[in-house]
Amino acid sequence: MSVIRFGVSLEQETLEKLDNYTSDNKLPNRSQAIRHLIENNIVEKKWKCNNIVAGAIVIVFDHHKYDINNKSNEIQHTYHHCILSTQHIHLNHDLCLETIAVKGKAQELTELADKIIALKGIQHGKLVMSKAN
Ligand code: NI
Repeated sequence: MSVIRFGVSLEQETLEKLDNYTSDNKLPNRSQAIRHLIENNIVEKKWKCNNIVAGAIVIVFDHHKYDINNKSNEIQHTYHHCILSTQHIHLNHDLCLETIAVKGKAQELTELADKIIALKGIQHGKLVMSKAN
């Protein structure tokens, strides 16, 4: 694939944000950072469609805090038609790792993952999806 150069004009503040993004993500240069941002955004848009996809939502949380188990359970029941299985692992006295296998419309799975990951007290949350038809 050929590489095309083009000029970009940015405010100082935005450029600093780009440089922070570059170093935070350990990217070698600004070009890679811009590529990263474009790809992430396009992928994200792609997931806001009606394609049938399958994947997993992975969350890590302290089960003592904010009643997360119950709240997550409540959300999962609302989306029961998208959930294939839920695996709950007690990592230690406090922390839980939950892997929720999902299949359905990309838009709906994104919605489900956003709701779970946004729960107060979720330490880490991520949705991974792949086309399934
Ligand atoms: Ni647990």
